[in-house]
Amino acid sequence: MNRELALEFSRVTEAAALASYKWLGRGDKFSADQAAVIAMRSMLNRININGEIVIGEGEIDEAPMLYIGEKVGNKSGAIVDIAVDPIEGTRMIALGQSNALSVLAVGEKDTFLKAPDMYMEKLIVGPKAKGVIDLNLPILDNMKLIANKLNKNLTNLTVITLAKPRHADLIKNMQQTGIKVFAIPDGDVAASILTCMPFSDVDVLYCIGGAPEGVISAAVITALGGDMNARLLLRNDVKGDTLENRQISKIEQSRCQEMGVSTNSILKIYDLVKNNNIIFSATGITKGDLLDGVNRIKNIAETETLLIRGKTGTIRKIKSIHDLEKKDSDLYQYFI
Ligand code: FBP
Repeated sequence: MNRELALEFSRVTEAAALASYKWLGRGDKFSADQAAVIAMRSMLNRININGEIVIGEGEIDEAPMLYIGEKVGNKSGAIVDIAVDPIEGTRMIALGQSNALSVLAVGEKDTFLKAPDMYMEKLIVGPKAKGVIDLNLPILDNMKLIANKLNKNLTNLTVITLAKPRHADLIKNMQQTGIKVFAIPDGDVAASILTCMPFSDVDVLYCIGGAPEGVISAAVITALGGDMNARLLLRNDVKGDTLENRQISKIEQSRCQEMGVSTNSILKIYDLVKNNNIIFSATGITKGDLLDGVNRIKNIAETETLLIRGKTGTIRKIKSIHDLEKKDSDLYQYFI
């Protein structure tokens, strides 16, 4: 993938962020997602690629999706696989909360693990703690190994996780050992990236969240030289053994079989993403720890985008100012 392509992908997440911003605080996850999907698809189809969506969203919550297997691009150029999350944090958009992003990762064909939209357990560290994590071990043992590798006491270790009831006991246990825990409501992709950012004090991400978000995180963690272990989990093991969850788990199980992946076994970072020839783009929709959100006064909007090329490890933060009235008419309606 040539380097000029990278900038093209930043336009895609910018457009999705601008489109979903219109729905900020409106309590309507579906319309926000739909606007972001349409903008993302429209921008992807202008790029000189033969692309295929290999990780998308929509199966769990029946959101409007860029569906798995969908061909994108103008069919001239590199053959690439694309993992997308038009809105990472649909609830945050609906409720006007911080940390929502539009994200995608691009790799050569067959770079990304193909997995259904189900839950995934994730343990992620930055480059300085690479090589010590092992999800076969209890989480607190992993924390000790990571602290040791980083030459820190547990009291100086910072872990980020999702503030979900399923993590409540672990959060309490970690805090009792002196670990600093940041428990955020949603959005584990941004949280994962913080483990690898040079100026962040987050050392570790641990959570059970979405598998698509997990593969997208693995792409950026690969690009930045960090490390990750993961495990696909069935819904009834995560959300409780109800009749509905058992039925969903059955479907997840058979989709895993079709896709040749298994639940509960440990996936190392290279099982998730094969190499670092990755382009990753994320645009902030609402202000967060990683990126500023969309800023808009009338028809002028400002965006901030994180654009990373795995081959060189360059991290670019791009501030763009958009005159929405000058955007193409097919997109204009989604921005205004
Ligand atoms: P979406 O906006 O795509 O729903 O994702 C938000 C998110 O918080 C992800 O970051 C996380 O992986 C997942 O939801 C967790 O799922 P759940 O809310 O079902 O626990």
